Amino acid sequence: MTNTAVDTKRIIVALDFPDVPTARQLVAQLDPSLCRVKIGKELFTRCGPSFVEELVSQGFDVFLDLKYHDIPNTVAKAVSAAAQLGVWMVNVHASGGRAMMTAAREAVEASAHKPLLIAVTVLTSMAQSDLLEVGVNGTPEEQVLKLARLSQDCGMDGVVCSAAETSILASQLGKDFVLVTPGIRPAGDAANDQKRIVTPVDAIAAGSHYLVIGRPISQAANPGEKLKTILAQLDGKIGNLC
Ligand code: C5P
Repeated sequence: MTNTAVDTKRIIVALDFPDVPTARQLVAQLDPSLCRVKIGKELFTRCGPSFVEELVSQGFDVFLDLKYHDIPNTVAKAVSAAAQLGVWMVNVHASGGRAMMTAAREAVEASAHKPLLIAVTVLTSMAQSDLLEVGVNGTPEEQVLKLARLSQDCGMDGVVCSAAETSILASQLGKDFVLVTPGIRPAGDAANDQKRIVTPVDAIAAGSHYLVIGRPISQAANPGEKLKTILAQLDGKIGNLC
């Protein structure tokens, strides 16, 4: 396992924007010493690696959320390319299987810069009926645990998980297995399209290491201040809760 020291910089701000100028407007209001940022498929597909490099050069830790899922060789090459961009975290789909995750791990180990390697278990958009249609008979919870165990066995540093799964995964997989949790809403904020939300404090208390937060920060009147307000809520709690 590499680079897993859990630190106090727990918030990953999701840069869910269609273009670089809009993303830059938010980034300009964020302090890289207080948060990390996440680039997903939309922004990356539109803007490519140069914006990732721009953020890295500004001192931001970048989570490149591209959820690789392909044959082992292809995923390993993609993970190597992400590592060369200098990203802090990269992810793959656990359902790509042992050989694919092992190849991804080997690619990180062979890289000069070693990002955290995280797996996606079951997409939270999938219900039991969706799993049945793709040949999975267990409940979503059973499948999440099964894939999280496999991910750990293959040397992944952690998994992305919903707030509902955080406690069970933290208790079953140990405190060093990194849990990255979206669906976070500070008390009083709009849920938007998220169904099961938890507050930052509750997510950390349940064992989450990193909180992915998008709209509560990006749509705030003053994103930099909103980030500081959330950090103040966590202040003093992180050490006690880890
Ligand atoms: O705006 P909001 O805080 O809901 O954004 C959450 C971010 O986390 C988005 O980038 C979304 O794609 C991502 N995410 C999620 N639920 C998951 C996995 C990722 O909301 N299960």
